[in-house]
Amino acid sequence: MRSYLDEISLSGPKDFALIDRHYKQLDETRGLLARLIGAAGPAEIGLCASGSEALSMLAGALSWQHGDEIILSEAEMISNVAPWLRVRDRFGVKIHFAPIREPGFVLAEEVEPLLSPRTKLISITHVPNTSGLVQPLEPIGRLARKAGIPFLVDAAASVGVVPVDVETLQCDLLVGTGRKYLRGPAGSAFVYCRSSVLPYLEPFHFGWKTGSWDWMNQKLTFLPDAARFHVGEPNFAAWIGLGAAVRYVFDIGGIEVVSARVRDLAGSLIGRLNSLPHVRVLGPQETGARSGIIMVDVAGIPPKIAADYLQARGIVVEGGHGYCPGPLRLSGVAMALRLALHYWNTEEDISAVVALLEKLRT
Ligand SMILES: Cc1ncc(COP(=O)(O)O)c(C=O)c1O
Repeated sequence: MRSYLDEISLSGPKDFALIDRHYKQLDETRGLLARLIGAAGPAEIGLCASGSEALSMLAGALSWQHGDEIILSEAEMISNVAPWLRVRDRFGVKIHFAPIREPGFVLAEEVEPLLSPRTKLISITHVPNTSGLVQPLEPIGRLARKAGIPFLVDAAASVGVVPVDVETLQCDLLVGTGRKYLRGPAGSAFVYCRSSVLPYLEPFHFGWKTGSWDWMNQKLTFLPDAARFHVGEPNFAAWIGLGAAVRYVFDIGGIEVVSARVRDLAGSLIGRLNSLPHVRVLGPQETGARSGIIMVDVAGIPPKIAADYLQARGIVVEGGHGYCPGPLRLSGVAMALRLALHYWNTEEDISAVVALLEKLRT
């Protein structure tokens, strides 16, 4: 990112060879993301600014008729609910929320009875950001494929920490963000569109990068690939940075290595937290398929106060609802303290947070 900014600030907008190279770097980012999630190639990846934007863009790109139906789950974050509420309010589309239950949260058995001939989309999160649990989405993907319904996976909180593979998930659309577990820059995200669904996606956002404009007949044609989600001047720095973040995952051994390390650390932290009588780990305790997010309730201490206490002592955590209340409500709370590990954390970090929580009593 720094090289890009240095190069462009020194050359200005007139060095076309340089600009050409920067465009090639964006294609590299698309290729790296495709490799990370098992997509067929860069043509199935579009770049954008945030996971929220990607989901809204998809909502605007699908076509809706009054009476169509969408299936979501109760484990969704606002970004995978609000765009569909907009579609509901604008076009008279009906939304069904599949109930969530421990230990697996959204199950295909809960989704299946909600299917109808009017179902136009199933959109479910891979890892809810207030549980950290990897949801068993494969059976839902199989169900969607059998019924011929597009399946969208919100992988914003899973990409970069657990394996995400579009063939395993059997999804047609997927959204990921750079700033979260990939540790890429803010303002970078991507959308995956299976080549078979691309012809049905007609983005509402349209600018000079989206396709072609037949001025004589005032007709628009979309680019054939997922670059149809690119609107205007690209955010080169952020999208080059996103590519660097993905390359880094491969360089340190790949997502399996990251995921195994995070799982071990999470197992260790959960075990230690369970020894504190005033601390309750929320949700399922099994560590086989989870990211590094662990939600906890400290008896008698509001999550924001607990977060401030830890923050003031150098532990970066959050206290709140994460705009994803469903999994918290399942555990009987409205907010929680969120401890989020990544591969660079150590057993010393875990001891430090456990020692502080031990002291944090009413
Ligand atoms: C599960 C989930 N979906 C969507 C988003 C939205 O992503 P962004 O913050 O890039 O808009 C987030 C981010 O917190 C998330 O955790």
